Amino acid sequence: MIVELEKIKERTLELENLFPDVFSVGSIDEDLKNNPFSHYLVYLERDLIVGFINYYDIYDRMEIANFNVLEQYQNMGIGNKLLKRVMELSTNKENITLEVRCDNEKAIHLYEKYGFIKKAIRKNYYNGKDGLLMEKKLMKDKDIYVLGIESSCDETSFSIVKNGTEEIATVISSQIDIHKDYGGVVPEIASRAHVKNITFVIEECLEKAKLTMDDIDMVAVANGPGLIGSLLVGLEAAKTICWLYNKPLIPVHHIAGHIYANNLVKRLEFPLVCLVISGGHTELVYMDKDYSFEKLGGTLDDAVGECFDKVGKVLGVEYPAGPKIDKMAKIGSHTYDLPLPLNDDSYNFSFSGLKSAVINLVHNEEQRGNEINKENLATSFQETVVDILAKKTVHAIVDKNVKNLILAGGVSANSGIRKRMEEISIDRGINFTCPEIKYCTDNAAMIAAAGYYAYLDGRRADFTLNGQSSMELK
Ligand code: KG4
Ligand code: ZN
Repeated sequence: MIVELEKIKERTLELENLFPDVFSVGSIDEDLKNNPFSHYLVYLERDLIVGFINYYDIYDRMEIANFNVLEQYQNMGIGNKLLKRVMELSTNKENITLEVRCDNEKAIHLYEKYGFIKKAIRKNYYNGKDGLLMEKKLMKDKDIYVLGIESSCDETSFSIVKNGTEEIATVISSQIDIHKDYGGVVPEIASRAHVKNITFVIEECLEKAKLTMDDIDMVAVANGPGLIGSLLVGLEAAKTICWLYNKPLIPVHHIAGHIYANNLVKRLEFPLVCLVISGGHTELVYMDKDYSFEKLGGTLDDAVGECFDKVGKVLGVEYPAGPKIDKMAKIGSHTYDLPLPLNDDSYNFSFSGLKSAVINLVHNEEQRGNEINKENLATSFQETVVDILAKKTVHAIVDKNVKNLILAGGVSANSGIRKRMEEISIDRGINFTCPEIKYCTDNAAMIAAAGYYAYLDGRRADFTLNGQSSMELK
């Protein structure tokens, strides 16, 4: 239990005796009498004082002056609770600062978890030992600028987003032209291209935003899932910027980014169901609040974007085939009968059977010497995909009883899918949002937007942060 020492003033001496290295007898009373800014919170464990935090509440800022937990009560979360309480008390302040011994790594780590960043070293501050000044900027009345970095596949992108909703500037350098000749992304070529482009993209982004690194509050980076070599380029850039300019580093799941591309159109409303459809993912996700993801189901084999790209290959369409199939589907009609994949009551998907059905159909017709009507096949394929996505999405909306539906990922640019989801939403009287077409495929604006909410959720990383080629969304 946390109690203000002012309320149990008769126990001041007890606190002084418990922490003789910190206090001399009478010093707390003296402090409380002469320093109106000074406050003490003590932690009582079965009425015993086992820890305390002393902070100064100085108009628009706070300072943690002293903070300690008895050795035998450490590692029980007591320090966390005390620190959390001070954080709660400080929400309307501009900043909160503290000093810690440079060699006290455990404490430094704890403060970093709470969003404090290293500001300055104070030489010989603690009787010959160096002190570290740390600061946490607080949210109240302050705009938060997040620099987002995305490099998980074949787009090198930087973006600056204000308060998670307002895009200031975004630069995307796409490698599509490089990979086109190979019919897909070649990982080694992708990471080399990222290395070549990344510094230009950073400079262009800051220039476009008319901001400098001083204006940036934190750096959010997509650290997975994706191509490992590609992810590492973005990660190294993020870590270098954070180290050089002393900014907090926020790890963002690539799919969380795709989901938050919607937040740049309209603030997310909860609870919601999100249909995630990209080159690497097909998932139904439920969210009841910001940055909280529950995966309802996903593909058992190919992702829907992958299926578009492979079907495109047999139709002789260049990579990435999704946008071109979408165009062809607008011209053709639904004349080919294709199987509805995994047409059951689960939230799971399967697209490899559909892909094989299209490939077999093309080969069989070729063998018979019949010409394929590519536009009609594109329409038949796309409508089959839309049917199954719609069926499972409606199932999730009904089961979860939500009033908000959103789309995410590269395939959410598909006109047939957008149209059907809109119709479903109108029929059911629910809200529907999808990302702007330019932010359906990979970009850093979505990473910066998600990064803001990841930050509010307390997510931080240190310089050991690594890329992960596969990674659960949580
Ligand atoms: O989200 P994204 O950029 O990359 C991943 O995270 O996977 O998605 C790329 C995928 C590609 O498979 C591409 O063919 C597909 O999105 N795509 C589309 C459309 N635009 C892009 N698929 C269908 N219709 C579209 N209009
Ligand atoms: Zn993506």
